[in-house]
Amino acid sequence: MPADNAHQDDSPSPSHGSIADADHDREIPEIDLLSPLSIRGVTLRNRIVMSPMCQYSSEDGLANDWHLVHLGSRAAGGTALVMVEATAVTPEGRISPADMGIWGEQHVEPLARIARFVKGQGAVAAIQLAHAGRKASCEPPWKGGASITSPEAGGWTVVGPSPIPFHDGDPVPQALDQLGIEGIIDAFEAACRRALEAGFEVIEIHAAHGYLLHEFLSPLSNLRTDSYGGSLENRMRLVLRVAERLRGIMPDALPLFVRISATDWVEGGWDIEQSIALSRLLKGLGVDLIDVSSGALVPKATIPVSKGYQVPFARRIKDEAGIMTGAVGLITEPGHANEIITAGDADLAFIGRELLREPYWAIKAQHDLDGEPSWPIPYGYAVQRRAK
Ligand code: FNR
Repeated sequence: MPADNAHQDDSPSPSHGSIADADHDREIPEIDLLSPLSIRGVTLRNRIVMSPMCQYSSEDGLANDWHLVHLGSRAAGGTALVMVEATAVTPEGRISPADMGIWGEQHVEPLARIARFVKGQGAVAAIQLAHAGRKASCEPPWKGGASITSPEAGGWTVVGPSPIPFHDGDPVPQALDQLGIEGIIDAFEAACRRALEAGFEVIEIHAAHGYLLHEFLSPLSNLRTDSYGGSLENRMRLVLRVAERLRGIMPDALPLFVRISATDWVEGGWDIEQSIALSRLLKGLGVDLIDVSSGALVPKATIPVSKGYQVPFARRIKDEAGIMTGAVGLITEPGHANEIITAGDADLAFIGRELLREPYWAIKAQHDLDGEPSWPIPYGYAVQRRAK
């Protein structure tokens, strides 16, 4: 039983065990991967989240049938929270011309179709709002991911906190001026309004992986001398202002998440101590959960990639900032994901590539952990007598 769950509104799981609290004559529900979690007015049926994953499959930023099936199948597969990939708040905020976007009213209905289907499967629909900053205007990864440098080839001018490219030789980003920064904050707010209109119940701000908001946080990419650069307080200003604006327009009942890179994995860069300081401030602004990833600000970083390697960061942020966290990164086995939750390292397990391999991973987890499989109704009666 995690000791620090006082800030959570956890519902007991009827299908799971409980332990006696010796000091008080009551039962404390044991929290595991299959336990529901209520955050504000939204209840997740378990702790399994589909991590946002770019599909580079949109035209003009529009969601289409691919996205419906990609996301809908994981909702049918028992995942509790299904998160739409990094969705650009402006056209220039796309990593590639094929990215998902939400900069116009035309984007709302195709996304609403996805949100409706996900909800219809008993999952909660989430969307990640993003701006790629200096890492924008690139080819999709399967075409090599190179910068598209000319408008004729479909590229555009990239922006960032400072004129420092991601790779040597990449186009130099245009440093945003004060007006440009206000425009970015307004674009996040407008995107959030549209996402709510489309029926998403959880909004996540993408402030990780070397994209625009992370670029402002890190002293390696932010060399500004105005109120958005220099001190930690100044570097955090843009992310905090975006979070404050979004919380300001979101209904109280709906959760707001922020994904961060807990460290750049580079000496002198953004690190876990700064991440904890940021998480405390985000909590104060009404952010509900920090989705804890790492890296991708600079191409050359030594990252000790291994099973669950980012989980200790989720644990530290949860403990030291007193906010719920999501763990992500090489979590592939239900037993491992369960250990993360039962140990209190994180409140949610975000699953990325393993959910690409196995859309029904959550049902597999329910089988493995002796839970009640949440088969879609048309399947359930037919398969429920299957031997485990
Ligand atoms: C990603 N990832 C990612 N992260 C994010 O915050 N927004 C995004 O849109 C994407 N896009 C994306 C596309 C693809 C194809 C992959 C594989 C990954 C990162 C992803 O959410 C996750 O953090 C990592 O993949 C690590 O988790 P796994 O895959 O080890 O479970």
